[in-house]
Order: sequence, then structure tokens, then C-alpha cells
Amino acid sequence: MAARPFHLGWFLQGSSVQAWGEPWTGHIGQTWMVPEFFLDMARSLERACFDYVLLEDSSYVGESYQGSTDIYLKNGIAVPRQDPSVVASLMTAVTSRIGIVPTFGTYAYPPYLLARLVATLDQVSQGRIGWNAVTGSSDFAAMNFGLKGMPEHDLRYDMADEYMQVVRELWGSWEPGALIADRASGVLVDTSKVHAVDHEGQFYKTRGPLNSGPCPQGQPVIAQAGGSPRGRQFAAQHADTIVAHTKGIAAMKAYRDDVRARMAASGRDPDTCKVLYLVAPIIGQTEAEAEERKQARLARAREIIPQRLAHLGKVTNIDFGKFDLDQPLGELKTNGHQQTLDQFTAKARDKTLRELMEDYNTTELSVELVGTPDTIAARMAEVMEEVGGDGFLFSLPNVSRRVLAEVEDGLVPALQARGLTRSSYTHKQFRDNLLEF
Ligand SMILES: Cc1cc2nc3c(=O)[nH]c(=O)nc-3n(C[C@H](O)[C@H](O)[C@H](O)COP(=O)(O)O)c2cc1C
Repeated sequence: MAARPFHLGWFLQGSSVQAWGEPWTGHIGQTWMVPEFFLDMARSLERACFDYVLLEDSSYVGESYQGSTDIYLKNGIAVPRQDPSVVASLMTAVTSRIGIVPTFGTYAYPPYLLARLVATLDQVSQGRIGWNAVTGSSDFAAMNFGLKGMPEHDLRYDMADEYMQVVRELWGSWEPGALIADRASGVLVDTSKVHAVDHEGQFYKTRGPLNSGPCPQGQPVIAQAGGSPRGRQFAAQHADTIVAHTKGIAAMKAYRDDVRARMAASGRDPDTCKVLYLVAPIIGQTEAEAEERKQARLARAREIIPQRLAHLGKVTNIDFGKFDLDQPLGELKTNGHQQTLDQFTAKARDKTLRELMEDYNTTELSVELVGTPDTIAARMAEVMEEVGGDGFLFSLPNVSRRVLAEVEDGLVPALQARGLTRSSYTHKQFRDNLLEF
């Protein structure tokens, strides 16, 4: 094998209606609620030997655009949306190797509840659970949980540091080997190996031990997506995999180098965290067909600028509905996703909002991948060579069974033929597969 293989993940946009308004989505407006599409997706990605599927989440109906929920509800923008733990659990039942990574916000789940939920999922999946650890960023979400609003950006990460410590202590409250289940002596649990936690910190308090018993992975996999300097520090301290939204090879490399340096400075081996970059490949049978599809995607993106601005406003807490599309956008600040806004406004001085939207996230997330399975596979290899690792996270605006088949039966065989991605899983547990190369 010439090149070191890289990892693949899939970013599922919530346990929600997928790709509303896009072609080839069948009766998704009705069928999203039962899990068949999600289960087919998990099976398909497992056949393609993906490391994981991540279920994104938020727990509120968007209201940032023109101060109304209308655009979100009418267009199915991150609503309706189910609690990701249920579909994650069902996905584990129809698969046996792929990692399943639901998102849970630290503002929404008390640490004990989260530790117990994730431990339970790790048990029923036999060691295949990850947790996408997010702090949350919206005051609307905070208000759904009785809070006045979200704490300030960096304070959220300070709180999340302590939260992570508590959750780890709870998972560690059962030492390896605590569960004896010895029928001869009649002893189920070795009492010397189960410990109270008695955590009383600045933000959280819990007693422990965790009553759900041990996690098969010991500590389930942690996924994270911090983009700001404070977010990267958090990810470098805690994450086994980072999902990165960084545009262009130089920025991708700089991001990874920065996180790896932060890990080394915190005493962690940088190879124990895999950075996966968002991509939205456009796969055609020929180059011409791929180009045609790219043009169709660009045209569609131009048609739905308000919907896309509503989505951007949802994660940055900014009402883009109040700006003139044909005027330059001034400087903006957010207590939401900082990196997303920084990327969006990087060229804001010289461009109008409409022009910015034409550039933003249409066919290119980290790098543009447009072509046949072979040319895309070759491009992915080049990108990984230049960036240094560790893989890609697919996030497609038009996800459907057709798109899944293009990836599973078109692109992935081309990657495997080049030795770029795995053709079978070596290990049973998620972290072992993630850290295999
Ligand atoms: C690929 C990706 C997936 C994310 N998934 C979620 C999610 O499901 N729920 C959520 O509240 N935030 C999610 N985020 C937001 C991050 O957790 C984080 O808040 C965001 O990247 C901003 O970080 P920063 O303020 O440190 O730049 C995601 C971000 C990225 C790039």
C-alpha cells in the first residue's frame, strides 16, 4: 500500500427530515419519522467501512431569521428533529462494526444523565459509541431548558472542561474487571472495583458511582468540533476525533498542525486524535456529468439564499433577514459558532451578502471534490498527502439513497482500489478502528 490510509465519517444532519426539496428523496417528508432511511444509511456506510456516522443535533426551533420560526418550519431547516439517542440506538442494532456518534449538548444534560446514557449506548452497541460533545450556542435552546441564555463563548468551554472531567470520573467509577458475574460464588460485582465520585466543582456536583455499570470501551469515544482558539484547546484536551470545517488546504493543514501542537503541549500523543474534514463530493459517471451536477447545485444554492441564511443565522444567532442582499455586509460578532462566522465574513468588506452566499458552502466545504469516482479518489489522496491526515467527513445537502449508493458503490471502491481506505474492519470496537492507522 503506497499511501497511509485515511478515515471516513458521515455527518448526518440530525434525526430530521433530510434534504427537503431535493430530488431523489422519495417520501422523506413523511418517512423521516420512522428510521428506515437512517438504518439503511448506517448499513450502507458500514458496508463502505466508514469509521463512523455522526448525528448532529440542536434542541430548539430556529427563530433567528426575521424573528420568526416560519422559514425554518416551512422549509424543514433543522426541524422537526428527534432526540438523536433513539435513532443512534436503533442504528447500533442493525450494524456490528461502524461507530455511532450522537450529539448531546452539555447545557442540556446533567453530567450524570449524559454519562449514564452514553454508557448504556456503549453497552448495547458492544463498544461502538462516540459522543459529539457540544456546548450549545443558542439562547433559544438555553431557554428550552429553563436557562436565561447561553453563557459567554469561552465560559461555555470552561464549564465543558469540568463537565468532561465529571463524565470521565463517572465512566471510571467502574474499574475494568468490576463485573465478575461468577455463578459459582454467586458474586456479580467486585465491590472493591466500584467507587464513588463525590465531585464538587465550580459548576457541577455529583455523587456516583454510575449505576449503569462499565462501558465496554472504558471511556467512549469523544468527537468535537471547536474551531475558535478556545474550542481547539478544548478539542485538543478531550477529543478522539475532531470534525473540522476549514476551507482550503493551507487552512486545513494549519488547523491540524495547531491541534496536534496543542495536544503535545497537554501531554497527549497527537496520533490519538483523528481530524476529519467536511466535504460534499459531487460524483458523476463522467467529468461532464459531475460538472453538470455541480452547476445544478450552484443554481439551487442561489435559489435558496434566504433558507441558507436562515441556517447560518441559526448557528451564529444573527438575523441575516434584516440585511440587504445587495449591500456589503459590515463587521459582525457572535456568541455562537465563531469559526463559522469568521470564515463567512473573511471577505465581507469587498462583497455583498448575495456574493458572499454564492461563495459560501455551495460545492466546497473543506476542498471541492467534483468528478468521477476515480478522479475524486485521486484528489482525496492528494489532499491528505498535503494536509498530513486524517480523513474526511461527508456532509451532503442532497442526501438520499441514490447519493449513498454513489458513495458506497462508486467512490468507496475507487478509494479501496488505491488502498486509501479500509476494505474491512480489523477491530470490534470503535476507538480501536479509529486509532488503527
Ligand atoms: C462538522 C461540525 C459539526 C457540528 N455539530 C454540531 C452539533 O451537532 N450541534 C451543535 O450544537 N454544534 C455543532 N457544531 C458546532 C461546534 O460544536 C462548535 O460550537 C462550533 O464549531 C463553533 O466552535 P467555536 O465557537 O469554537 O468556533 C458542529 C460544528 C462542526 C464544524
